Amino acid sequence: MKDFNGKLVYITGGSSGIGLAAARLLAAKGSSVTIFARRREVLDEALNEITACRKRPDQRFLAFQMDVSSRDEVTGILQEAVDKTGVPDVLINCAGRAKPGYFGDIADGQFDETLKVDLYGVWNTCSFLVPLMRQRCGHIVNVSSICGFIGVFGYTDYCAAKFGVIGFSEALRSELKPDGVAVSVLCPPDTDTPGYAEENKTKPPETQAVSQTASILKPEAVAAALLKGMGKGDFMIIPNANGKFTWIMKRLFPWLVERVTDSQVKGVQRKQRA
Ligand SMILES: NC(=O)c1ccc[n+]([C@@H]2O[C@H](COP(=O)([O-])OP(=O)(O)OC[C@H]3O[C@@H](n4cnc5c(N)ncnc54)[C@H](OP(=O)(O)O)[C@@H]3O)[C@@H](O)[C@H]2O)c1
Repeated sequence: MKDFNGKLVYITGGSSGIGLAAARLLAAKGSSVTIFARRREVLDEALNEITACRKRPDQRFLAFQMDVSSRDEVTGILQEAVDKTGVPDVLINCAGRAKPGYFGDIADGQFDETLKVDLYGVWNTCSFLVPLMRQRCGHIVNVSSICGFIGVFGYTDYCAAKFGVIGFSEALRSELKPDGVAVSVLCPPDTDTPGYAEENKTKPPETQAVSQTASILKPEAVAAALLKGMGKGDFMIIPNANGKFTWIMKRLFPWLVERVTDSQVKGVQRKQRA
């Protein structure tokens, strides 16, 4: 999809961070945007910001309270949204969260929640919308992460979910191609968002050390890379050079990537023991 003017876009997690930056950019390009998240007051604030970016007066902007991890809620709310606005041309599954920690500290409840939001959330919206979008082409973007193709210290539950998002999307891409529905995966690196600030509160020192080797992107830069990648028809959309390099190295020389990350972790653990 190259021209977003006049398109209808649904964005889960569109009230904050990367999802909100994408919503603002799409509004500026002439899209009508509907956002979905849980907190009403954050949705309302975001809706004002998105509306302020509009290109034309006939664009429509709506916000729905919806928890992507609840299949029943997703079915009911998406039906209401489709009744009000129509079937979207673009679906961006951006709702998600990470709560890093040592494997031994991650309780069953957290694992369940991570999978329910970050992986089942994508499954739930696609289950409802794909049959409708199939009849009218379009583009689906599922937001994964660098943690979706490289296992990062401190992210066992999150990596399980985000690796799943890439596998799911790759299979879905193949199935939907004959219908003219494109599927992409966005893999942002560390990005300066409220979610990232929250994530930093529980990062083990080893995870901090691995993170510090890469620069932090602004959500606007990630949103711009997302639209550019969609325009080019890329499946894997990796917004930064370092992330693209890691993706290539992980495919060609996985042993080398392991060696580098292991030595970073070892360095921190040595310092902690000293
Ligand atoms: N920031 C990074 O460094 C980074 C890096 C790689 C990947 N990512 C991925 O990028 C996506 C966006 O992250 P972000 O950093 O922009 O996070 P953010 O600023 O915390 O925004 C997350 C958005 O998702 C919504 N959300 C969270 N849980 C939800 C649920 N159960 N149901 C519906 N909406 C939910 C939030 O609103 P409510 O809380 O009100 O529901 C909010 O709108 C996530 O999938 C994240 O895993 C982020």
